[in-house]
Amino acid sequence: MNTHQQVAHLVFGPTAAGKSTFARTLAAETNGVRFAIDEWMLALFASDAPDSMDLAWIMPRVARCQAQIWSVAEQILGTGTAVVLELGLLQKLERAAIKTKVEKAGYTAVFHFIDADLETRRQRVLRRNVEKGASYSFDVTPAMFSAMEGYFERPSEDELLALEIR
Ligand SMILES: Nc1ncnc2c1ncn2[C@@H]1O[C@H](COP(=O)(O)OP(=O)(O)OP(=O)(O)O)[C@@H](O)[C@H]1O
Ligand SMILES: [Mg+2]
Repeated sequence: MNTHQQVAHLVFGPTAAGKSTFARTLAAETNGVRFAIDEWMLALFASDAPDSMDLAWIMPRVARCQAQIWSVAEQILGTGTAVVLELGLLQKLERAAIKTKVEKAGYTAVFHFIDADLETRRQRVLRRNVEKGASYSFDVTPAMFSAMEGYFERPSEDELLALEIR
């Protein structure tokens, strides 16, 4: 049962769909505090990264960042402020787990699935690597793009219903 009105916005979707751009706008509109996993990974771990980074190195660090972000986000929600969380949430199980976590803490989880077609996203990555605008964290190479495509679990209609995405 939700005991508070404060909302945790959970933004997810495939690479370069426009998640970070959307999250910035939403945070401004809701007067909320935004957390983006890429920014935290970059700030905390980029300088310690091995030359050949792989998912086995990245994923435990992502999990640690997610846990710490949630710990702070929960305190922010407690002050009556919304949070906009861009945590990755590439897998269905991760999305279900954060929904449970938010609701157990007594808040409302609102998911935002941001999507765009493959070719549009490929083009956006190439352009962002050069332009390095507000949503740029690091270069996404074609190899990284492909790896993320393989790792992202696209939500089924059933999952979208379960997450109550409008
Ligand atoms: N609705 C849109 N229309 C056109 N371009 C957009 C739109 N949304 C974002 N972009 C541009 O596309 C690029 C990718 O957007 P953004 O960085 O927000 O995506 P992302 O989903 O956060 O990507 P990543 O998965 O790499 O974190 C950026 O250069 C951004 O300016
Ligand atoms: Mg982003």
